Amino acid sequence: MITAMTFQEEIKQGIPSVLPQAKPYPADANRAPKRKDILNSDEKQLALRNALRYFPKEWHQELALEFAQELKDFGRIYMYRFKPSYALKARSVSDYPAKCTQAAAIMLMVENNLDPAVAQHPEELITYGGNGAVFQNWAQYLLSMKYLSEMENDQTLHLYSGHPMGLFPSSAEAPRVVVTNGMMIPNYSKPDDWEKFNALGVTQYGQMTAGSFMYIGPQGIVHGTTITVMNAFRKVLTKGETSKGKIFLTAGLGGMSGAQPKAGNIANCITVCAEVNANAATKRHQQGWVDELIDNMDELVTRVKEAQAAEEVVSIAYIGNIVDVWESFFEQEIFIHLGSDQTSLHNPWSGGYYPVDVSYEESNRLIREEPEVFKVKVQETLRRHADAVNKHTARGTYFFDYGNAFLLEASRAGGDVMAENGIDFKYPSYVQDILGPMCFDYGFGPFRWVCASGKSEDLDKTDAIAASVLEKLMQESPEEIQQQMQDNITWIKDAKQNNLVVGSQARILYADAQGRMEIAKAFNDAINSGEIGPVVLGRDHHDVSGTDSPYRETSNIYDGSRFTADMAIHNVIGDSFRGATWVSIHNGGGVGWGEVTNGGFGMLLDGTADAERKLKSMLLFDVNNGIARRSWARNSEANFAIKREMARTPKLKVTLANLVDDDILNNLSL
Ligand SMILES: NC(=O)c1ccc[n+]([C@@H]2O[C@H](COP(=O)([O-])OP(=O)(O)OC[C@H]3O[C@@H](n4cnc5c(N)ncnc54)[C@H](O)[C@@H]3O)[C@@H](O)[C@H]2O)c1
Repeated sequence: MITAMTFQEEIKQGIPSVLPQAKPYPADANRAPKRKDILNSDEKQLALRNALRYFPKEWHQELALEFAQELKDFGRIYMYRFKPSYALKARSVSDYPAKCTQAAAIMLMVENNLDPAVAQHPEELITYGGNGAVFQNWAQYLLSMKYLSEMENDQTLHLYSGHPMGLFPSSAEAPRVVVTNGMMIPNYSKPDDWEKFNALGVTQYGQMTAGSFMYIGPQGIVHGTTITVMNAFRKVLTKGETSKGKIFLTAGLGGMSGAQPKAGNIANCITVCAEVNANAATKRHQQGWVDELIDNMDELVTRVKEAQAAEEVVSIAYIGNIVDVWESFFEQEIFIHLGSDQTSLHNPWSGGYYPVDVSYEESNRLIREEPEVFKVKVQETLRRHADAVNKHTARGTYFFDYGNAFLLEASRAGGDVMAENGIDFKYPSYVQDILGPMCFDYGFGPFRWVCASGKSEDLDKTDAIAASVLEKLMQESPEEIQQQMQDNITWIKDAKQNNLVVGSQARILYADAQGRMEIAKAFNDAINSGEIGPVVLGRDHHDVSGTDSPYRETSNIYDGSRFTADMAIHNVIGDSFRGATWVSIHNGGGVGWGEVTNGGFGMLLDGTADAERKLKSMLLFDVNNGIARRSWARNSEANFAIKREMARTPKLKVTLANLVDDDILNNLSL
């Protein structure tokens, strides 16, 4: 009798010794879109040769046919047949077959990123963003997990865009895994290069946290959006005034944009969020991410006026076009305190942005059958959209671009969004005006952790520890950062009741270097005393240091260096020899392939003195590397923060910028 293998045995086996049966595609899976058919026939042969090198010769005939079909049908070879039969989800760290806890913790994080409850296209190993891959195919997954199960604490696994090149001897001080995703020779980093080399099976798009196993579901985006909305209100409210009864008007209830109403509720305002796709709006309503659904403009106006009068905290989804809302609210003299937009304007011609006065169904027909007509209608709408926003801002609305290319596409469509100098936009982006100067320049950025025991009680205990550390630090912190501290104390205290966990027992907050180090140390102490199990630390790449992205994370760098990627590279190298358990560096992220270089880390806290030494050394560098660069770029908030850090850390000596008087430069004839 053949007995079924246990989960542990399957992991240790890697690529099975017997060819598994081909299986049907799961009916309920959300399949990744078919990718571009970009390879010529020689290249297709090369893609197959590349795929087959993972398997013994006897299987080649059968697999060649199957993989050729996958390439034809989906534009990629995912090797569906090799997806393991066990459930992919974050288990307790003790459930993984491993020789060191660090390797087990990495397995937990890998599996979390492939959990169908967390991942967008789990069958294609895509976690989020449509193309954010953990691995390119199931053979890479199986082999990597096998290597992790064999790894000892003096070996390092090197992953080349998902491909496990192998385990190499290293030392206990070295990272257990080094990840690179999409690293290209710079001239080969155009969007079609990704299509081609990914189809060949030699590179992948790791987005920011997918390819580094650090995605924790929608919680990260809810937190980031909450912080953005709260700080945006701060820019418009007078001291003592609250956001109650004030309106945040925006659009989009999709992947990331769907976090806006929940964030608006946490930030205590009235959120009105337009969404043209009734299904998307209904789904968010059913999930409890938006309070009310309205599909009639008169009803919306009445409801919003009522909410204003009663100073309600409420989020309302309007099923319809955002332009109609901006225009109607102007006519109805409804004052909007904050305005933004999160339609998918990075993808304007294939459904990222829907034109006004055309039904959703008709728009989709135009995209398929008359793309040129669709394009004209989108551009007309963008001009109307910009005009309506301008009328409101003339009345005092604060409008910001949410990194979705609204201003870029509106300007390309001839919309009135350019500043007088003809170079800049009239309105700032959320990083230029809000996250950059108010958070990143002070070192505030994402600090996330996962309780590796898988116990929700551990998460509750870590929430309480983090809150008490921040409260203590706040008593001694300078006025400049008090607000950021308070926002995150409020966030962490309410986090449990906001029901944010999907997948692993994870949490996120924003803290500066000192906050991150002290919270991590307090966790390590609690692990040491047996109060909680091990904890994995990490962050997303939307941070002070890890990411060079000229139109997003580093858009508030004005010394010309925002088009360089030295900071991200120094960050990942610096973290790697200061104690990170794994490090990653990626080409591409939310803004596109070739547009950003971003890095991250993971660190296991196991309660030991070694873990304490490493966390102190690595977190100090991880944050201050970016502050130093921002300070050198003459950002005054970063200059304040780095001087404060140098006073606290005598061994830190950073080059400071001298500021030249404008008069001297203005009097030169250049
Ligand atoms: N949330 C963040 O922190 C953040 C940061 C940077 C960039 N972004 C950008 O925000 C955008 C949205 O991301 P997403 O994951 O939610 O995309 P998505 O495509 O899942 O959602 C966008 C939604 O907008 C709706 N929509 C399109 N045109 C509309 C219109 N005219 N009126 C009303 N609704 C309309 C679509 O139906 C869709 O549901 C992307 O461009 C993304 O890059 C978000």
